[in-house]
Amino acid sequence: MLIYLDNHATTRLDPRVFEAMLPWLKDQYGNAGSLTHAFGRAAREAVEQAREQVAQAIGATAREVIFTSGATESANLAILGAAARPGREIGKLISWQTEHHAVLDPLEHLASRGSHVEILGVAGQKSAVPGLVCVDTLQQACSEETFLVSLLLANNEIGTIQPAAEVAAVAHAVGAVLHLDAAQAVGKVPIDVDQLGADLLSLSAHKFHGPQGVGALFVRRRERVTRLSPRVFGGGQERGLRSGTLNVPGIVGLGAAAELASSQLEQEATEIRHLRDRLWRQIAERIPEARLNGPACDSPGTRLPGNLNVCIAGVEGQTLLATLGEGELAVSSGSACSSATPRPSHVLQAIGLSDDEARASLRFGISRFTTADEVDRAVVLLADAVARLRP
Ligand SMILES: Cc1ncc(COP(=O)(O)O)c(C=O)c1O
Repeated sequence: MLIYLDNHATTRLDPRVFEAMLPWLKDQYGNAGSLTHAFGRAAREAVEQAREQVAQAIGATAREVIFTSGATESANLAILGAAARPGREIGKLISWQTEHHAVLDPLEHLASRGSHVEILGVAGQKSAVPGLVCVDTLQQACSEETFLVSLLLANNEIGTIQPAAEVAAVAHAVGAVLHLDAAQAVGKVPIDVDQLGADLLSLSAHKFHGPQGVGALFVRRRERVTRLSPRVFGGGQERGLRSGTLNVPGIVGLGAAAELASSQLEQEATEIRHLRDRLWRQIAERIPEARLNGPACDSPGTRLPGNLNVCIAGVEGQTLLATLGEGELAVSSGSACSSATPRPSHVLQAIGLSDDEARASLRFGISRFTTADEVDRAVVLLADAVARLRP
């Protein structure tokens, strides 16, 4: 039995989503831009239905949804596209140390070109909610020149859920827009762009049982209309913001996955949270000196239901991962993009873990397909591996 507990990296395509995509991979192969014939018009209709499904899942209107290749592209378009607006040369962008590289790297790129970028710290592991941003610190950092604040709504390593509405109020008070990286939050916690105060929001289908390589950017077009400059030029698709032939099967899959996730969100979150708690309880019982990284599991509002991150002192994380990965258990040490490199997680470092502690940490992600038997077996495999590796 192979056990997959790496659901922050990606999730299994739901068979119902696959069924929805199938016709668009076979006989329905029109280009959604070819409106002179039935093939193209059918594809366009399917894309517009998916746009509606995505909009409904996040409390937006369909015309505010721009399809992309995933959250990396969405975040890049949000940040670089906002910075490229006329008059932004002297402006300031603010974000936090625990963001995903899809946000940190475009910010670093802008900083290298002379933009004013400020990266703020977060609450440490010993504080009430590890990984939480401080709204007062943001207030001090914000000024009239600030035009963009970018916040990771739910952290992909330690699961911290941020007070987005409070951050939005501070950003809006100085006329800045708020970009939320919601790649790990959509389909897991309720999302309403109005309640969250989001002006831009990035999401990715493969994080909630949709296909890989497709996502969306919400760009607000009501009240505070948000303007971006495109980063990709060509045929003018997606309101000119993202040129290129649309990925119709992927977009149909994204729409189906978004609808499915929001239709069963609460019940699914409860089940997933129980499995996550079961996993942590057993790890804590069976593995001496296993410590939780990130917020407490019993505070649902501050930690993603399916997220667990554990430091197992005295074991080298990469060796443990390799041992587990050769066997039946798929987990990771952190972000998928960086887990091939032995660098310790920047997120764990930001909450105050030493390099050794960060290297000895494992991230577990539970999904709708995880069973209690798998959780129990995973703990046995983990405990055995740790017993073998500990001196
Ligand atoms: C928080 C976060 N943001 C952005 C991304 C990038 O998403 P994508 O794989 O769709 O480019 C990921 C995926 O690892 C993520 O976890």
